[in-house]
Amino acid sequence: MKKETMSFGYEVYDSSDDLNADDALLIDTARKITATAYAPYSNFKVGAAARLVNGEIVSGTNQENASYPVGICAERVLLGTAAVLHPGMPIETLAVSYKNGNGESIKPASPCGMCRQALKEFEDRTASPVRLILGGQTGKVYVIESASQLLPFSFGGADLE
Ligand code: THU
Repeated sequence: MKKETMSFGYEVYDSSDDLNADDALLIDTARKITATAYAPYSNFKVGAAARLVNGEIVSGTNQENASYPVGICAERVLLGTAAVLHPGMPIETLAVSYKNGNGESIKPASPCGMCRQALKEFEDRTASPVRLILGGQTGKVYVIESASQLLPFSFGGADLE
């Protein structure tokens, strides 16, 4: 028996003011687009904004449903939108923010497990990492080089071969 370790590094910024201009614009877009979330059940409005490799910014917000499991997270709305508007085009960076009607929004929130799997598939199909920027409406911001780092031991198409 031997023990293995997995770890990854990520950047922590005290505030989005410390990001470069492109990244600051992206998290700002994610913060503002939360206004279009449909989240009457959780009151937790999530906004996602991605810069594609052609420089275009696409966005997504969570869309809930009275039948709760039918709701879709902001990240997966965005991935579907990007794939429809620009089939096969990689995402360079994807920012996620949120506005919590029940509390504060002063620290980053991470994509849920289902979105991590969807992000991993998007990385695979575009053969390109999706860099993540995570932050609340204010406070610290995390930058992660590749979304799949959040999903160690992931399952993918290669496992089906
Ligand atoms: N949600 C997202 O949109 N993205 C995430 O990564 C976490 C959760 C949404 C789903 C649901 O509409 C609400 O936030 C509360 O879970």
